[in-house]
Amino acid sequence: MAEVDSTGIINGSITPDDLIQMALKVKNNAYAPYSGFKVGAALICDDGRVYTGCNVENLSYGATICAERTAIVKAVSCGSRKIRSVAVISDSQTYTIPCAICLQVMSEFCNPDTKLYLANKNGQYVEYTFKELLPHSFKLHNE
Ligand code: THU
Repeated sequence: MAEVDSTGIINGSITPDDLIQMALKVKNNAYAPYSGFKVGAALICDDGRVYTGCNVENLSYGATICAERTAIVKAVSCGSRKIRSVAVISDSQTYTIPCAICLQVMSEFCNPDTKLYLANKNGQYVEYTFKELLPHSFKLHNE
């Protein structure tokens, strides 16, 4: 399995299973006292860096941040803006599909062919491209 150092730099080539294992590990850090639903996400960017994230809930429920957005915000704040692939896992028996808010946030930093590996609790996953999950995203038209 590929190893990642504290700066997010990978040693070795990364497989979908590697990314899912990283998502599984960070899921342990999920702060989900209200829903009890823990989610982990891991993504790799074109610069070769990996970022992970978990959901962070809030008593003011709307302030909750999903695992995918945690990872994306970490990536962007470290200077990585081009997402190559994303893994998401939860404790669900069904595959973990990103919510629409996360897809809209991804639309800024993914390309149509960015790969998403969406796992169930056993680590089995389905693979989609970003454009399959969000063929049309919100855009600002100024004219
Ligand atoms: N959640 C995620 O982390 N990612 C998603 O794409 C969907 C939902 C979290 C938010 C909340 O903490 C919990 O799952 C239940 O909705």
